[in-house]
Formats: sequence, C-alpha cells, structure tokens
Amino acid sequence: MEFNKIIERRGSACFKYDALKTVYGREDLIPLWVADMDFAVSDEILKALKTRLEHPIFGYNFPNEQFHQSIKNWMDKRFGWDPSALKTISVPSLMTALAIAILSLSKTGDKILIQTPVYPPFHSTVVEHSRELLTNPLIRVENRYEVDWHDFEAKCSRAKMFILCNPHNPVGKVFSREELQRMHDICSKHKVLIFSDEIHADIVYPPFQHIPIASLGPENVITGISPAKSFNLAGLATAVMFAPRGEISRALAAMNEALHTFMGNSFGIVAFTAAYTKAGYWLDELLTYLQSNRDVLRNFFANELREIKMLDCEGTFLAWLDCRQLGMNEAELKDFITNKAGLALNPGHTFGQEGQGYMRLNFAVPRPILTEALDRLRTALRDKL
Ligand SMILES: Cc1ncc(COP(=O)(O)O)c(C=O)c1O
Repeated sequence: MEFNKIIERRGSACFKYDALKTVYGREDLIPLWVADMDFAVSDEILKALKTRLEHPIFGYNFPNEQFHQSIKNWMDKRFGWDPSALKTISVPSLMTALAIAILSLSKTGDKILIQTPVYPPFHSTVVEHSRELLTNPLIRVENRYEVDWHDFEAKCSRAKMFILCNPHNPVGKVFSREELQRMHDICSKHKVLIFSDEIHADIVYPPFQHIPIASLGPENVITGISPAKSFNLAGLATAVMFAPRGEISRALAAMNEALHTFMGNSFGIVAFTAAYTKAGYWLDELLTYLQSNRDVLRNFFANELREIKMLDCEGTFLAWLDCRQLGMNEAELKDFITNKAGLALNPGHTFGQEGQGYMRLNFAVPRPILTEALDRLRTALRDKL
C-alpha cells in the first residue's frame, strides 16, 4: 500500500524532521509533532506540478478561473455547500487569513474569543496584534469535549470576534449541526464575527460529517479552507477565505493588498486546483488509512497502555492523549516522552493551560513508524513502572 511507504524527509528543509535538534535537542526522535503527513502527494498533483515546471517562467501569478471553479465544485461535492455567493480571497495560509481578519475587522484592544485547548497560533495571532484574548475552555465529558454554553454566551457578549476551529485541533472534535447552529445564533445575537478555521474539514471519519458554519448563514462568517492538511501541501503556501460581499470582504481584500499577500504561488495554485479537481479518490483512500491508524492507536491505549487515555478522534490526524495518570509535571512528561520514549510530540500546555498533562500525537505516518513509536512508548513506560 502506498501509504505504508517510508520516505526519507531529512535534508529537505523539512520542519518536522530537520528542526528536531533545535526544538527538542536531539535528532533521533520519531517526529509525531508538526501537523503535516509523511505521505507522498497524489500522482495527479505531482503530474500537474511537473507540467507546470515545463513552462520555464515563474513570474507573478493570480488565482485563475480554474482555481476558483475547483473550490466551488469541491465544496459543493464534499459538503453540499456552494460558496459562490461569497467573495473568495486568496492568501498564502490560513494563519495569514486569520491575521488579515484580525487586522482589518477589529481594532487594538478588542476582545477575541477562542475555545481552548486550541492550536497555539490562535492565541499568539490575537495577542501579537494587541487584541485581548478571551477563552471559552471546552469541557471534558468522558472521552470527548463539549461547549460550556453559559460561558460561551457570557464571553460573546463582550467579544468582537470568535475564532472557531472545526474540526478542532487538538481535541479532534467535529462540531454537530446543533452545536454550530447554537454558536451561530449566539454570535449573531451579540454581533460577533466568526472566523471559522476549517483547514481540517476534509479529514473527518464516519459517522461524523463536516458542516461549514457559513452554510447556516454566511452574513457574519469568514471561512478559511485549504488543501494543505488533506493533500499534504502546506509548503506550497496557498489558501483561501470566503467572506460576505460588501463591507467585510472589502476590508479583508484591502488588507490583503496592503500586506502584499494576494498574488499567489505558481505551484500552489496548480497543486490546489489539481487536488480539488482530480484527487478526490486519493483523499478517500487516505481517509481509510488514517482511520485505521487512529484505530490502532485507540486499541493500543484502550487495551495495552491504559495509563494513557486517548480522546475520541472524530476528525483530523491528531490524537489527543491524556497522560495525567502518569503523575508527572509538564517538564517531567516532556522529558519522559522525548528522552525515554524517543518521540517528538506536542506538549498539551502549548494549546492552553487546559492542555496540561496532555500530549498531541500526529498519526499521519506510515503504519510501521506508528507501530515503532508505540513499541518505544510501551518499553519506556514498562521500564518506568
Ligand atoms: C487548525 C489549524 N489552522 C491552521 C493551521 C496552519 O495552516 P496554515 O499553514 O495554512 O497557516 C493548522 C496547522 O496545523 C491548523 O491545525
């Protein structure tokens, strides 16, 4: 099976491997941290990129008609939602989109709400632009997380913007239609803008289904999407946001121009279009493989290594591991996972204080690597006990 193939990534200026020494102090770790995949992209994407390479000029670009059409068709086919009534604004990345939204639609000191524990740049992008962070911590209920509705509404009454992460990184939650509707209603009531980061939308396991929150009413929603996660294209720096036409999209587009982030990347545009027009079948195969990896992990923590609990993973290729029963503080846990088990994972506290005692594990790797990582963890833990 193609996804079982181990590809050497060291030496390709690859952050996940080549930054191990800088971030973790050693190079001999199995890297299960940065959220990209150790799989080759689909043949269709490679072929489209090779064809583009045959044209020897790499001047300025713009996202063309095929690019826009591919997005519309993809959203329609995969999520039953046609975003063409909205303005599509292209940017180099989802986090650029978020920064643009914050800069153009809020002002210094405005309050911006996030649901912790959550992807660290949600915290930093708010704070670095001198906005005030409000948190609505998700509540752990058995093996999954729920929204604290009372707190959500109280915070919304003071917030300018809410940054939704759906599917949610790191907790793996896929928000239901009812939850999305309720968040949407509360935000509308309090005139809160929603920035919905849906970069993991394509990676959802049955019976769960991704619902774009803008499909419930787009007037106060900006949605960010990209094939970076699902087609492993993060290095090609191409993403888009959908925004209501009029004042909101004008402000976003003006900031995109002011920051000179609107031009597009020659290869990103080509790969993006090829992914969305030709590689849907590849994504379906990938999802089957990822689901099996998730189930390997789930069985391992449910039956073999019960000291660590894996939360339900409804979407994303990220497992959220509750390590609190090990009785270690943050430094001890990081030291144990890094230096005893030989794994590079993301410490939970980096996602917010609610993540203390947790670790995030990226399972988008060939199964033999995953199995070796679990062997290492088992051995390290048995030695410790
Ligand atoms: C929820 C979420 N948003 C955004 C990103 C980063 O996307 P980009 O590289 O397009 O900024 C990630 C990457 O892990 C992510 O998990």
